[in-house]
Amino acid sequence: MVSRRPARGLAGVARVPGDKSISHRALMLGALALGESRITGLLEGEDVLRTAAAMRALGAAVTREGDGDWRVAGRGVGGIVEPEDVLDMGNSGTAARLLAGILASHPIFSVLTGDASLRRRPMRRVMTPLAASGATFSARAGGRMPLAIAGTGTALPIAYRLPVASAQVKSAILLAGLNARGITRVEEPVATRDHSENMLRHFGASVSVGDDGEGRVIELAGLPELRCADITVPGDPSSAAFPLVAALLVPDSAITLPGIGLNPLRTGLFATLEEMGAGIVIENRRISGGEPVGDLSVRHAALRGVDVPAARAPSMIDEYPILAVAAACARGTTRLRGLAELRVKESDRLAATAALLAGNGVRAAIEDDDLIIHGAGAPPPGGGMVATGMDHRIAMSALVLGLASLAPVAIDDARFIETSFPGFAGLMNGLGATMAPA
Ligand code: S3P
Repeated sequence: MVSRRPARGLAGVARVPGDKSISHRALMLGALALGESRITGLLEGEDVLRTAAAMRALGAAVTREGDGDWRVAGRGVGGIVEPEDVLDMGNSGTAARLLAGILASHPIFSVLTGDASLRRRPMRRVMTPLAASGATFSARAGGRMPLAIAGTGTALPIAYRLPVASAQVKSAILLAGLNARGITRVEEPVATRDHSENMLRHFGASVSVGDDGEGRVIELAGLPELRCADITVPGDPSSAAFPLVAALLVPDSAITLPGIGLNPLRTGLFATLEEMGAGIVIENRRISGGEPVGDLSVRHAALRGVDVPAARAPSMIDEYPILAVAAACARGTTRLRGLAELRVKESDRLAATAALLAGNGVRAAIEDDDLIIHGAGAPPPGGGMVATGMDHRIAMSALVLGLASLAPVAIDDARFIETSFPGFAGLMNGLGATMAPA
């Protein structure tokens, strides 16, 4: 696929797909609740479809009624059944890690695997804390999948302080705690996205959140009776990031993005873009399905370089590649600090982002865990062919860069965009972008 500068600015309404994090959790909690939950606005990307298939393999009745409209008839906490076959989670780290938590505290044997990207990613970060429940794990060298899990029917509640800021690890522990007697406790030094906490409450679990001076402490009371609940999934702010940055970069653009999730633990990118000179207008703020939501509008703006502190990383962890593209077009130097976690995403996203910029004539360097980008305040040269490394966000970031560069930008593989943003090129072209098969 290749993208080039459009003749006119981007305009119109961008309806981005449902939030990926919330979609996974809605299917999983629906499967663990008694009764039938209705989910609207579910992301129908490949990652989430893997979770739907896995919950079916564990005995839940998961049915699609229409576009984004799904029903899950759950089995109750403790009620899932042993899957007959290996569970293939495709490209999705969230699906694999959260599911490992559920599987650990049920007396069943299971094996998780994934595609070549996911099989390279570290699973020890969940195996280590989950083993304290009494489950046993075996994996390939380095804690790589396939991962075999012998779950336990008499799980102990886990108490764990996260060594890395990871909502996936936190969520895996909380989900394991559902089928453990007693209080499960997670302490996180830096707050990470709290969709699990919000949705657990929505389904009737008792979850308390406090601060012990060392960080945020989440406690879950085990063995709740989860009751079916309806979920409306907001638009994914991580997906909205791509059309939003495209509109900032392409002259004469003005677009609106209705119904975007605005959970404060997800909005680091919006704050950063504002610091860079963007004007992002948020209207019609409301609460939907327990999560804050609003309609965004944005127009083209001249951006300047910025210094982004490491503490902001958890609130924008998936947005660094597209932020780097914005920084490449800004005037001055941008320093993105504390990006170690990017090395273990769908690709080594720190290296892939630096390569995406360098291959298109943008001066960029990695210093320790920081990425430094020198923007000229003018369209970058472009003209590169970007290796996407099975990483949807690298693919979409490169295509957005092509809209703002002097020469077109090509990507080697557009297929992985389907994991999180089905119909991406069509939506962008509907706004006036120029993305086409190479
Ligand atoms: C996610 C958490 C983040 C994020 C991922 C989705 C989640 O990962 O990168 O895309 O849904 O919990 P980590 O929590 O491992 O950083």
